[in-house]
Amino acid sequence: MKIFSGTSNKPLAEKVALKLNTKLSPLDIFVFPDGEKRVRVIDNVVDEETVIIQSTSNPADHNYMEIFFIADALKRSGAKSITAVIPYLGYQRQDHVFRDGEAVSLEVIIETLQAVGVSKIITLDVHSIKIPCLFKIPIIHISALDLFAKKIKELPKKESVLVSPDMGGIRRIKILSKNLDNMPFSTIEKERDLETGSVSAKTINGEVRGKRAIIVDDMISTGGTILTATNLLLQKGADEIYVFASHPVFSGNAKEVLEKVKAEKIFVTDSIYLEKEKYFKNLEVISVTDIIAGSLVKS
Ligand code: R5P
Repeated sequence: MKIFSGTSNKPLAEKVALKLNTKLSPLDIFVFPDGEKRVRVIDNVVDEETVIIQSTSNPADHNYMEIFFIADALKRSGAKSITAVIPYLGYQRQDHVFRDGEAVSLEVIIETLQAVGVSKIITLDVHSIKIPCLFKIPIIHISALDLFAKKIKELPKKESVLVSPDMGGIRRIKILSKNLDNMPFSTIEKERDLETGSVSAKTINGEVRGKRAIIVDDMISTGGTILTATNLLLQKGADEIYVFASHPVFSGNAKEVLEKVKAEKIFVTDSIYLEKEKYFKNLEVISVTDIIAGSLVKS
């Protein structure tokens, strides 16, 4: 197996390669003065099983183009198979038409991944359970929930409740609850303005008073959802808050927003590479290296 990395999350790709007792295979990614890229595979990959590791976080378009070009280069160089490990699958929230006239961006991405020769996808904690069904090629959906469960078990003992910050996260919360000896869970009724993207929430289904509330979400983008959920939980009497989210998308001024969140700790994974400037005091990053390496061995 030869493992290649795009430029979006090389530290994670390196850790996965190391876990599999190998090194990343070299790639020549040359950027022309006008910003266009030329990708060249250097090693011999004839009849090899190949892997591309690349998160398609911001800038999603740029990062997808790298996957497309690397896959095309591998295909033309005779690779036997091309597995794209996309820990964070960009455009996943545009998986259907929300309002008349919209493009279904995720479908365009999927069609293109398939067209350039990607033969299998491995991705982590997608936004909706329907997403894997959109692919015609095999897709392995891995999850950070087991890692979150392990961390939650390590917290000092206290009556706790899992909280989904919106109704869409209920499936995730139920899986985690099972994993934690049926820990009680509640959901927040969140509303998002489709024009402005701003979120609001007034109702929590379930009792949180006097308890530790553990918010679990698939991603933190602007931080608006977590800030709204935390404020509501505290208003409803929650004693302390912990936050777990798989993908630190951290767009715009997310860091400033998250610094305002009154949580003991915010846990995310390294599915997306975070520059030093995006770190803040109570942020902890859990690595998904072992899960990815494990899924590559099994598949
Ligand atoms: C939404 O349905 C997702 O599960 C996340 O809650 C959302 O994408 C987070 O976005 P933001 O941090 O911008 O509120």
